[in-house]
Amino acid sequence: MSKKIEGFSKLSKNEKIEWLNKICFNNNEKAKDILIQYWNSDDRLQKLHDEFSENTISNYYLPFAIAPNFLINNKMYAVPMAIEESSVVAAASKAAKFWMNHGGFKSEVIQTEKIGQVHFLFHGNSKIISNYFDFVKPLFFKKTENITRKMKSRGGGICDITLVNKNSYLSGYYQIFATFDTVDAMGANFINTCLEEFSKIFIQTIPLYNNYELKIDDVEIIMSILSNYVPNCIVKSVVSCRVEELNSLEPNSKNFAEKIIKAVEIANNDIYRAVTHNKGIMNGVDAVAIATGNDFRAIEASVHAYASMENYSSLSNAYIKNEFFYFELKLPLAIGTVGGVTNLHPLVKIGLEILGNPNSKELMKIIASVGLAQNFGAIRSLVTTGIQKGHMKMHLINLLNKYQANEIEKQKALEYFKIKSVSSSEVENFLNKIR
Ligand code: MEV
Repeated sequence: MSKKIEGFSKLSKNEKIEWLNKICFNNNEKAKDILIQYWNSDDRLQKLHDEFSENTISNYYLPFAIAPNFLINNKMYAVPMAIEESSVVAAASKAAKFWMNHGGFKSEVIQTEKIGQVHFLFHGNSKIISNYFDFVKPLFFKKTENITRKMKSRGGGICDITLVNKNSYLSGYYQIFATFDTVDAMGANFINTCLEEFSKIFIQTIPLYNNYELKIDDVEIIMSILSNYVPNCIVKSVVSCRVEELNSLEPNSKNFAEKIIKAVEIANNDIYRAVTHNKGIMNGVDAVAIATGNDFRAIEASVHAYASMENYSSLSNAYIKNEFFYFELKLPLAIGTVGGVTNLHPLVKIGLEILGNPNSKELMKIIASVGLAQNFGAIRSLVTTGIQKGHMKMHLINLLNKYQANEIEKQKALEYFKIKSVSSSEVENFLNKIR
């Protein structure tokens, strides 16, 4: 049967499921039952979720967990994390607890500038367009006042607008390069609205510009869009303790600290390791971003571009100075605590409330600290026991569920695997033996 369909979006939710049922599941009611099982019994809540996206047929659950004991800038946090990967929350919690007893995370926001561009073509003399830009620039601010008023009242708005000549990359290519402060909002809609307005103003003002060398048709707008690369929207988080204090984690604390430093050095010199190292950081960053309703795709894109500013390398850094071990992380983070789904998604609202309704700067500090804790936990395991020991222990429940173990079998398995290494086949063998 063909999967081609016209007007899918016009079908009701039930009709969409019926169509899928026929096309993908041979009218097997089981798939349909599962999709419907995940609907919320509260119609109002279900409608809210349906309307977050298009063509929705069900809800996709992620575990919503808490990593407690985060001491950040002398304030305690229980951090909400939405993630399906076993052992991430456990590792973050463990690292947080250790650092809570050693001064906690010290975190600071270094900059909060966001960027947007209008990309356009002009093939004439560059002096003509730069003179015109100087003429039109005040109008970008003035004619967007109705858009920027609210943001300005919160302390943000358009910071600066410059003309960038990119002719050396592409013939006739220029950018209107604008910087913004969006305060507590991630600001994507605000920035994009401003940029689209700039592009209109840029064209519409040409006839009013008393210079016959420039005509409307000489300028071709290609696109107007924010940049998810935010190298000037930076947060830093640091932990430190005396090297010997690490011995509550590992008996040979000096060797342990040196191994962590080597692990970071390796990530700085090998892209295969660096990507995995940074992925471990993003386990924590994304989980908090999702739990607080932030766009983790934007964060991921920016973070990896930032990591590759020179050669792709580690986002974190470790060193020993005056007998102290330091572990730090610097991240570009464009996030918000207002706007988007933050005021709409009930769990996001709860997530933010659990954090004490932080503003965006405070949330940046929390997210960076969780990323750092996550990295510390991962590196600690990697340079000592190896990652699988803890990971597979946490994964054991998933494996038991995969083999449909009942509660009694689960208890027996948890006891048995306390001293045995976990693998899918070992778990299967064990269940076969006791069944
Ligand atoms: C697994 O999700 C993350 C790690 O691979 C990170 C790392 O290797 O540093 C454990």
